Amino acid sequence: MGTAVATKGLEGIVATNSSICWIDGDAGVLAYRGIDIHELASKSTFEETAYLLWNGTLSTLPELDAFTRRLTEARKLPPQIIDLLRSFPKEATPMEVLRTAVSALSFYDPNEKAVDHESNIRKSFALTAQIAMLVAAFDRLRKGKRVVDPDPSLSHAGNFLWMLTGEKPSDTATRALDVALILHADHELNASTFAARVIAATLSDIHSAITGAIGALKGPLHGGANENVMRMLFAIEEQGEDPVEHVRQMLAEKKKVSGFGHRVYHTEDPRATHLRKMSEDLGRASGNTKWFDMSRKIELFVNAEKKLNANVDFYSASTYTTLGIDLDLFTPIFATSRIAGWAAHVIEQLDDNRLIRPRAEYVGPHYPVKYTPLAQR
Ligand SMILES: CC(C)(COP(=O)(O)OP(=O)(O)OC[C@H]1O[C@@H](n2cnc3c(N)ncnc32)[C@H](O)[C@@H]1OP(=O)(O)O)[C@@H](O)C(=O)NCCC(=O)NCCS
Repeated sequence: MGTAVATKGLEGIVATNSSICWIDGDAGVLAYRGIDIHELASKSTFEETAYLLWNGTLSTLPELDAFTRRLTEARKLPPQIIDLLRSFPKEATPMEVLRTAVSALSFYDPNEKAVDHESNIRKSFALTAQIAMLVAAFDRLRKGKRVVDPDPSLSHAGNFLWMLTGEKPSDTATRALDVALILHADHELNASTFAARVIAATLSDIHSAITGAIGALKGPLHGGANENVMRMLFAIEEQGEDPVEHVRQMLAEKKKVSGFGHRVYHTEDPRATHLRKMSEDLGRASGNTKWFDMSRKIELFVNAEKKLNANVDFYSASTYTTLGIDLDLFTPIFATSRIAGWAAHVIEQLDDNRLIRPRAEYVGPHYPVKYTPLAQR
């Protein structure tokens, strides 16, 4: 050591081989297992996408049926976990609740320590089913409502909306959420996925890896950005401000505008293309394009002013709000989808594992520094 130069934020550093997700940041291409995200978003479902991420290829119909059945069967939460949710402060943020509850789920796993392929697949089904349930159940409990049992006839997206609202969701809402779940399902070595792989590589366990990933996702530079976008839109509306002037002021104060910029994309984030359209379509269908219109003005301005593109988080905010979903559930919904990618990465890591342990370029006091006894300091 001594000659290496550290790259701040590990920008551009290749940290692993992976066959799960491919991104071309200059061309704005995102593909899961080689299949373009635009194709998946228009033709696939979350279940099929999760199968693809975990298995490497698209399923046959019987394989997809078996996968869906396994996910349906995994949709149960230990009663102790529901009690735990009840014991949390109602003001706790759903992301904090999710982080703590996913960690606690490991107590009730029949073979928590197992890290072999089959055990990881089994736990991936469980966690994918349970994360959606936890988010919906906590939201209901904090509102003084009863927890809604899953409906085995509904898809993963449909079930989430059902367990959240207690009402059978419309096809439009179910498909909109399904597409959002497909778009968020994986994104190569993003911060939370990297965190999950680092934890898994110590031969800890998948619950620990996913708990760590949730902690990473929560941050406003990562998944937490979608909530901040909506906070900004609400603030603009509440103060009766002009959206462009609001953002102009933010940029003048050197503040970051949530929902813009990306470490990897230097052009349009292909996920934003879908979410922009979804936000507009849902707005029109509901007769209220206010949030879309405001978002679009901000996007055009930030793009012209700073050459920054909207990322996945920008239009997911107006999309979820138009679907009637509370602001602080946006990042948990991101987790509800990203569990598919986290699980795929943990499985891939443990199928061919080596401890992840990089080095730091030391820039501290020059060795050896003399130890001065306390009395002489
Ligand atoms: C995503 C993000 C963390 C990537 O960070 P990064 O690759 O480390 O890029 P940097 O933060 O170093 O930004 C590079 C430059 O663009 C500016 N920039 C990046 N994103 C910006 C934003 N959203 N608003 C305003 N300026 C931004 C930075 O201020 C910096 O300018 P400077 O060189 O004049 O200091 C960053 O774009 C960001 O903070 N975006 C807002 C949060 C967000 O939406 N996160 C979700 C990502 S999917």
